[in-house]
Amino acid sequence: MGSDLRLAPFGVGRRVCPGKALGITTVHLWLAQMLQKFKWVEAVRLICLSV
Ligand code: HEM
Repeated sequence: MGSDLRLAPFGVGRRVCPGKALGITTVHLWLAQMLQKFKWVEAVRLICLSV
């Protein structure tokens, strides 16, 4: 992990995001639901669509 605080996803210090816990919990829930409800397959080689 880097130490550049400008990249902290929820900010830091006095203005840190007050929704941090809710945000992380929600993203975990989304991930869990996607893992549960979709069939995950290995990516095939990407096809270039540009001419
Ligand atoms: C993945 C979800 C979220 C991300 C990545 C995120 C990120 C951030 C960031 C970067 C800031 C600015 C911090 C700063 O000024 O240094 C911020 C501020 C804030 N966020 Fe979030 N946030 C998320 C979810 C939420 C949620 C769920 C809520 C409320 C339910 C919320 C409420 C706020 C508020 C009120 C501020 C302003 C805080 C202040 O200026 O004192 N955020 N958020």
